[in-house]
Amino acid sequence: MSNDENDLKGMKGRILSGARPTGRQHIGNYFGALKNWVSLQDSYQCFYFVADIHAMTTLNDTKDLELNTREMVLDWLAAGLDPEKSVLFVQSQVPEVTELHTYLSMVTPMGWLQRVPSFKEQLRANGDGMNYGLVGYPVLQTADIIIYKADTVPVGRDQVPHVELSREIVRRFNGEFGEIFPEPEALLSKSPSIIGTDGQNKMSKSLDNHIELAATPEETRARVKTMMTDPQRARRTDPGRPWVCNVYALHQLFSSEATQLEVHEACTNATIGCVEDKDLLAKSINETLEPFREKRRELENKPNVVDEALREGNEKAKAIAIATMEEVREAIGFIK
Ligand code: TRP
Repeated sequence: MSNDENDLKGMKGRILSGARPTGRQHIGNYFGALKNWVSLQDSYQCFYFVADIHAMTTLNDTKDLELNTREMVLDWLAAGLDPEKSVLFVQSQVPEVTELHTYLSMVTPMGWLQRVPSFKEQLRANGDGMNYGLVGYPVLQTADIIIYKADTVPVGRDQVPHVELSREIVRRFNGEFGEIFPEPEALLSKSPSIIGTDGQNKMSKSLDNHIELAATPEETRARVKTMMTDPQRARRTDPGRPWVCNVYALHQLFSSEATQLEVHEACTNATIGCVEDKDLLAKSINETLEPFREKRRELENKPNVVDEALREGNEKAKAIAIATMEEVREAIGFIK
């Protein structure tokens, strides 16, 4: 793997992260993950993948699997993930990962899986109807990471228990079969999670409280209009509290310092109403996202951009996965 060794020169290590194919990405996806992924490309060897097998854990997610995969990857490219720098690939195109998942499942005690917070949530929601795949979700996630021998996993806070479990599984597996895998470590993104337009929940497509990166300026304005503001500001003449207002939280991400100061002052003095404040926010979002949107339109008009980016990435990922699995089978002691 001399190519690989060359690539690693001057690099801090190997990153792997993935996202379920939810289609067009929203500003919560961007600030929660994508922005961080883009900036890591220059200092790490990066692997980013579409977790389409994971999407099967909730079957209603598979209806538009292909379309959602394409839309998401287009957003990735328009936001600056670069197939020349990072390996961009699709989980189902490297099915070796499902084989590793099976072997890892043999060294993973049920008790470990039952302690994972996402398991408890699912159990509460589904009871005995919970599928076997969901129980093993963190095991498949471990296989995703370690089949590429990644050491660093950029994720949001909610995923930290999964990465912790990955470390335990790796220790168990290495203890049984030899030092094959590095223990992966979570790398938390600095930005706090983005609250949706409802002002209450984390921004998510399933709650329909999101603002898509690729939305039109009009769609963006319409979404911003629906945003919750300070509930104590019932009348235009009431002074507002920007520190509890989600519109202001987004100003902090999208508006210039000058605009931030201006709206902060005008809101607390009640010289600006929420409607004008939202107009300003929509304008800032649209201005900030315009270069992204232009790049996306460009990419949309070129045939096969997504296919080409993924074809190369899938190939690179697969070559590494195949090599790892040969090592794994040998270590376990299967007949050759
Ligand atoms: N579970 C992650 C999520 O829901 C997606 C994911 C799957 C992932 N496999 C991974 C993230 C491996 C990091 C590493 O967001």
